[in-house]
Amino acid sequence: EQSRQIQQTLAEFRLSKAQLLEVKKRMRAEIERGLKKESHQEAAVKMLPTFVRSTPDGSENGDFLALDLGGTNFRVLLVKIRSGKRRSVEMHNKIYQIPIEVMQGTGEELFDHIVHCISDFLDYMGMKSARLPLGFTFSFPCHQTSLDAGKLVTWTKGFKATDCEGEDVVELLRDAIKRKEEFELDVVAIVNDTVGTMMTCAYEEPTCEVGLIAGTGSNACYMEEMKNIEIVEGNEGRMCVNMEWGAFGDNGCLDDIRTQYDTSVDENSLNEGKQRYEKMCSGMYLGEIVRQILIDLTKRGFLFRGQISETLKTTGIFETKFLSQIESDRLALLQVRGILQQLGLDSTCDDSIIVKEVCGTVSHRAAQICGAGMAAVVDKIRENRGLDHLEVTVGVDGTLYKLHPHFSRIFQQTVKELAPKCDVTFLLSEDGSGKGAALITAVGCRQRELEA
Ligand code: BG6
Ligand code: GLC
Repeated sequence: EQSRQIQQTLAEFRLSKAQLLEVKKRMRAEIERGLKKESHQEAAVKMLPTFVRSTPDGSENGDFLALDLGGTNFRVLLVKIRSGKRRSVEMHNKIYQIPIEVMQGTGEELFDHIVHCISDFLDYMGMKSARLPLGFTFSFPCHQTSLDAGKLVTWTKGFKATDCEGEDVVELLRDAIKRKEEFELDVVAIVNDTVGTMMTCAYEEPTCEVGLIAGTGSNACYMEEMKNIEIVEGNEGRMCVNMEWGAFGDNGCLDDIRTQYDTSVDENSLNEGKQRYEKMCSGMYLGEIVRQILIDLTKRGFLFRGQISETLKTTGIFETKFLSQIESDRLALLQVRGILQQLGLDSTCDDSIIVKEVCGTVSHRAAQICGAGMAAVVDKIRENRGLDHLEVTVGVDGTLYKLHPHFSRIFQQTVKELAPKCDVTFLLSEDGSGKGAALITAVGCRQRELEA
């Protein structure tokens, strides 16, 4: 009986093919809404223009600084790109911490901290006096009006610094550089991490026209036809669109597949009511869904002898790396118990079996709905080009995709099943999105010279 009730709870997470096709269809409808002039303003999936009009062609050249803010790590990078026959990219980078108080403090503190890290990096590289062009990977929704102007629409994930929403993030960075009075930099481009990832991968593989992040957050970008992007002037060629698909469902269109646990995760988050799709399929929230289910199963007396420990009440205990370990097939149940023990959860052997099944169910659904979203994107590209069959490459990054033992496989399988007319290759980004940001900056610098 106990096992039947547990199965009943988990059954809500097991989606049929019909349901997944429905998710794909709704994503497609939201894409259209975001692209159209008359509806984009209230659209949940914002389809933000990036002003990146092509993927790299090998002619990019120069030395650039790049910042990479918004994923697990904050990095400052120096990227040296050489064009020509023996084109090459050399990178140096340093990782910096952003303390929670800074992520959730004032905007000025956050940007002063960023500039402090740049200053440290320039000292470290011995380059204080060089005035380099800079590309800023900023992994949040920005309303861009050019390559180097973008207003933060809303913070997502773990950030909540004051006085930034609605402001031009490039200006905030420039102001902080001025306040520091130590060095000059040319901020040339603001780049979403999906776009940076697509460009990084496209440098190696020209068929790469889509970027995906399955990490702390979840998002995608792709090359859309200019004529379909109604809010940008011009009908020629293509432009990369940052979908911000994490906000899919914010208008209620996924409510029929959301569970009470998804609702609890949302209520406990920094941005209630927002990023509902992201909260079902990205690393920052999967562990939270698991925790909500475990709390409920414990309350009902099916787990941990009915005792809800302080640990279980702690937000964020199940990080992606723990879920990944728990679900690893090479791990014996005894080791699963060991991990739970490390987290401060005393479990019996039966408990560890249940915990592993809960984790597996939650990450399976995540990979499937993420795959349904991607199926909508590649089919849209196929239709844009009037093709019966499309071959395309998707550049991918993110800790969930890279660390989790099953996510990538289930995700790929789902895309294949739901978009059978597309032949999709997934290319893991090895170099992060800083490299892509530098490539975009190179193009931006060339444009500036032409205009001057
Ligand atoms: C990194 C990119 O490799 O992946 C970042 O350089 C990106 O820009 C990140 O945000 C996403 O992964 P995660 O899991 O760290 O959020
Ligand atoms: C969040 C951000 C988005 C980013 C994604 C992955 O969804 O809003 O801009 O691309 O996380 O990091």
